[in-house]
Amino acid sequence: MAIVITVAQQKGGTGKTTIAANLAAALAGGRRVALLDIDPQGSLTRWYGLRLERPGLARMTFSSVSGWRLTAELDRLKREHDFVVVDSPPQIDTEAKLAVRGATLVLIPVQPSPPDVWAAEGTLKLAAEERRPAAIVLNRVPAASRQKDLVVGGLTARGLPLLRAAIGNRTGFVDAFAAGLGVTESAPRSSAAREVRALMDELLEMTR
Ligand SMILES: Nc1ncnc2c1ncn2[C@@H]1O[C@H](COP(=O)(O)OP(=O)(O)OP(=O)(O)O)[C@@H](O)[C@H]1O
Ligand SMILES: [Mg+2]
Repeated sequence: MAIVITVAQQKGGTGKTTIAANLAAALAGGRRVALLDIDPQGSLTRWYGLRLERPGLARMTFSSVSGWRLTAELDRLKREHDFVVVDSPPQIDTEAKLAVRGATLVLIPVQPSPPDVWAAEGTLKLAAEERRPAAIVLNRVPAASRQKDLVVGGLTARGLPLLRAAIGNRTGFVDAFAAGLGVTESAPRSSAAREVRALMDELLEMTR
């Protein structure tokens, strides 16, 4: 049965779509990977469209769905893949709840700033209500950041589930996304690619 990673966080612009795309691209190749876009904004759908214009990339299944068909679609993808990565909208609506319910692990991107941490609390609560494990990944971490240390300290002190892997604030993510690629494909030796692989490895370890 597939491992389902639902990327969720009610706050907008924290990096859900960027992380979903990069994780799927890193996992693909040797693994059967599906991406499911349940956000009506459709950014991941656009990324996948750009990807299709490029020959020779690792293949993945793509699907977008809304409303009551979500659970059936997720079940279908689970039967046919090793991993399903779900990108969700910036709000806790019915769809996001169903995607959390269907997750093996809920991945919550948080930028190192207080509003992101506060918003993550809502997603952590939802995961707890649905009895699903959740993990926070810091995203867009600046090279030198006092806020990062404060946020890490605060999360750790409260026993909140923070991953070791963290993603830096890097233009490589923007460039890769604009080309329909993950950073592990556009710049495999970059720091960004190393960070994504470390995130993937940590998630593989947790969900094994
Ligand atoms: N690690 C990063 N480094 C640099 N830019 C980033 C990084 N992560 C995300 N971004 C940029 O931040 C913006 C928001 O990212 P993204 O669309 O992934 O967030 P989101 O949580 O999916 O947003 P929404 O809530 O609207 O769906 C985008 O312009 C994206 O390119
Ligand atoms: Mg998004």
